Amino acid sequence: MPKFRTLSDVNVKEKTVIVRVDFNSPLDPESLKILDDTRIKAHGETTIKELVEKGAKVVILSHQGRPGDFDFIPLKQHAEILEKVLGKTVRYVNDLYGEQAKTAIKDLKPGEVVVLKNTRTFSDEQKSKNPEEHAKSEFIKVLASLADIFVNDAFSAAHRAHASVVGFSKVLPTVAGRIMEHELMALSQVLESPKKPCVFILGGAKADDSLEISKYVLNNNIADYVLTGGITGQLFMLASGVNLGKPNVELIEKQGVLGLVSGIKELLVSYKSKVKVPIDVAVEENGKRKELPLSLLPTEYQIFDIGTQTINQYCQIIRNSKTIVISGPLGVYEKKEFIKGTKEILEAVASSKGFSLVGGGHTIAAIQELGLTDKMSYISTAGGALIEFLMGKTLPGVVSLEEAAKKNL
Ligand code: 3PG
Repeated sequence: MPKFRTLSDVNVKEKTVIVRVDFNSPLDPESLKILDDTRIKAHGETTIKELVEKGAKVVILSHQGRPGDFDFIPLKQHAEILEKVLGKTVRYVNDLYGEQAKTAIKDLKPGEVVVLKNTRTFSDEQKSKNPEEHAKSEFIKVLASLADIFVNDAFSAAHRAHASVVGFSKVLPTVAGRIMEHELMALSQVLESPKKPCVFILGGAKADDSLEISKYVLNNNIADYVLTGGITGQLFMLASGVNLGKPNVELIEKQGVLGLVSGIKELLVSYKSKVKVPIDVAVEENGKRKELPLSLLPTEYQIFDIGTQTINQYCQIIRNSKTIVISGPLGVYEKKEFIKGTKEILEAVASSKGFSLVGGGHTIAAIQELGLTDKMSYISTAGGALIEFLMGKTLPGVVSLEEAAKKNL
């Protein structure tokens, strides 16, 4: 478990506290309305609420989108949602560290909240610099001079060495917010001391990420089993010598992941009994689900799900596991006939008494659709940061919290 300080270690009453959250949310490309406010709610109901209740003067920083992309928009909508979550006025100031922002911060009374402009409007925000260099920027210098404490609550942006993520820890007392704390506790529980047996279920289309995670958790004796599904599962089948048929191989080619086959082959040789590859599949034939055992492959139809034999084998392993990580759906669950694999696997995870950790936007959406949200032990709000953590990489945002914990408050 990384060693860092939390909100419990500081007195925030009447202090000006800069909180780096991750409000980055999916938007409707036409209306630019926020489609899913999970992250805003998560920060609002925990860290920000606690700071308000403790009488801090709260300054919120976040990014939204990337410069040049359609979703690179101001944080006004985010502030409005936060206002509803908190049930109190939240001011939005369309300025990051200019006169307007400075005045808004100085005017804050205990318990008041201001949201500043999208951090990525600062030209050097995303430049690859070390924390010391970032700390010398006008943005960090100006805001830090008006604040007493920095709270980093943005676990989902912790893989970015950006100014607003790592710069403040060099110049202000720095602690983790509750979302950061809970994410790190849940993830460390899985990677450092998983209760055994431990299973990783890797589906979805990001086969390159799945391969890296598999290597890390198998080489480090974290996972006892890796179960594969989705495009990842199909690629693993291909690497194990199964001929999937033209439309399926073409789809994999289109995803640009065929180059991973040799790495997967090596993994399958080293961990033959631990890595599970689908033993049957479901294809779409004349608009209907049809299940095929491996003996009936190749197929001229598109594979959209794992089959019943695979589901049964995977559920058996899940039932016997004490730690379960799942990221990525097992099939095209958006199609009614092909939700079966994802549904039955998620139901098995939900009814497990073990510790279950869920990540990935599509998996979370499937869990919500199936009404299983409350049955999972921990649902991560992170995307890329979670993937990098599960690959064993160090995250700059977490390192800066660890470094800050070595200094006196
Ligand atoms: C995310 O959504 O994963 C984070 O907000 C990071 O966003 P980024 O990939 O644009 O840095």
